[in-house]
Amino acid sequence: MSLLLGRNSFGHISNQGNLLSREEALQLFNEWVLNPKLQLHMKQVAHLMKCWAAEKENLSAKDEWKWEMTGLLHDADWDQWPELHCKKIIEELENRNIDPEVLHAIASHGPVHFGVEPETKMDQMLYAFDELSGLIHAYSLMRPEGYAGMELKGVKKRLKEKSFAANVSREDIQDACNRANLGMDELIEFIIQHQATVA
Ligand SMILES: [Fe+2]
Ligand SMILES: [Fe+2]
Repeated sequence: MSLLLGRNSFGHISNQGNLLSREEALQLFNEWVLNPKLQLHMKQVAHLMKCWAAEKENLSAKDEWKWEMTGLLHDADWDQWPELHCKKIIEELENRNIDPEVLHAIASHGPVHFGVEPETKMDQMLYAFDELSGLIHAYSLMRPEGYAGMELKGVKKRLKEKSFAANVSREDIQDACNRANLGMDELIEFIIQHQATVA
């Protein structure tokens, strides 16, 4: 099954700045994503994107929402239409005349799968948070105290253990950090710090 999108251009430049309202985004989210685990993953990534936009990129409130919305919807079609993953949500958002930057970020959240390179900072951060967020959440579930007291070195130990969260690609995580020009430690610390509050 190939998920390659076969194109590199998404949406139209004249739609720059067009976003869904929070209500519209949540409606789509709730209609399309039924699996609570996937819902949590998407909410976690959305929160990380929002916090990164605010704290590290100093973006405006509107751009913060752009990053958050991108995180919130990046896997929207994975639950019910896995064979159409990425394609379906992109087409939906194209039909709703959404900002091409949102579309490109969603389209590049798995370059190996979708064949689209993460180019902008928003693309790169979505790609970087996606896998690492899942691994850190899996780690929190096996700790009796959850996120409390979680340390960088514990996460790094789990990363080295290939059998732990084996479906999380270590290569993708490294590749994502390289592309975003980020140290893995900084990224892990940021996720530990921010992800605990999303339930
Ligand atoms: Fe995905
Ligand atoms: Fe994801």
